[in-house]
Amino acid sequence: MADITPWQAHIITLFPDMFPGPLSQALAGKALSEGRWSVETYQLRDFALNKHRSVDDTPMGGGAGMVLRPDVMSGALDHLSDKAGPRLYFSPRGRVLDQAFVHELAEGPGAVMVCGRYEGLDQRVIDTHQLIEVSIGDYILAGGEMAALVTLDAVVRLLDGVMGNAQSFVEESFETGLLEHPLYTQPRHWEGHDVPDILLSGHHQAIADWRQSESEKLTAERRPDVWARYRTERSQTTAKKISQKMPQKMPQK
Ligand code: ADE
Repeated sequence: MADITPWQAHIITLFPDMFPGPLSQALAGKALSEGRWSVETYQLRDFALNKHRSVDDTPMGGGAGMVLRPDVMSGALDHLSDKAGPRLYFSPRGRVLDQAFVHELAEGPGAVMVCGRYEGLDQRVIDTHQLIEVSIGDYILAGGEMAALVTLDAVVRLLDGVMGNAQSFVEESFETGLLEHPLYTQPRHWEGHDVPDILLSGHHQAIADWRQSESEKLTAERRPDVWARYRTERSQTTAKKISQKMPQKMPQK
């Protein structure tokens, strides 16, 4: 195979054995062995500054749990200063990962990923290293490793050559701004439930229209937030098209 530059993940973690974990399997695993992406881990404890190799301390001002020290994390980040891509810090306070951000990441050279543990990371290292805080949803994980794996799974499948059929991306949930329409396969009749007739009609436009309308119905019902965004974006696009068609100035006599 022709040489390819892998999309590079550099991960700072207390649990390096969690990588590549499930991503050694299936499409991501194949892409990893083909060199389409790479993952390197860095044990945070290796950057500790004392003989006990401690990486955390009690929160200033009191409170429960422990906080990751800025000096230790900064040492790890400095060690990776030559690595390309954004610095992500997985945290429930972050911007919620969405498909647009996944595309942005996949189009870049890779990322440095910081996996937090305990109560979190000292704010000063987040600020000075301009870490982008990323959340994978409104719930609390025991650490950032699972969030890093989820992010990698979403990114890797978008890399060139990882998934066969590019059209299947276009129709997926969120790629169109809507949730995906229902899918059916054989058998046509199953335990009293039939595949909708329209899908067997052979009329491509009618099928596309049906799918679009099912997608819209599903999105409006299940995800009012996604539906509202879609409607706003669609009305802006329509307004833009109309204004492009209109003459900008009245012709002068
Ligand atoms: N770390 C703990 N909870 C998290 C979440 N929801 N997303 C990303 N990182 C996290």
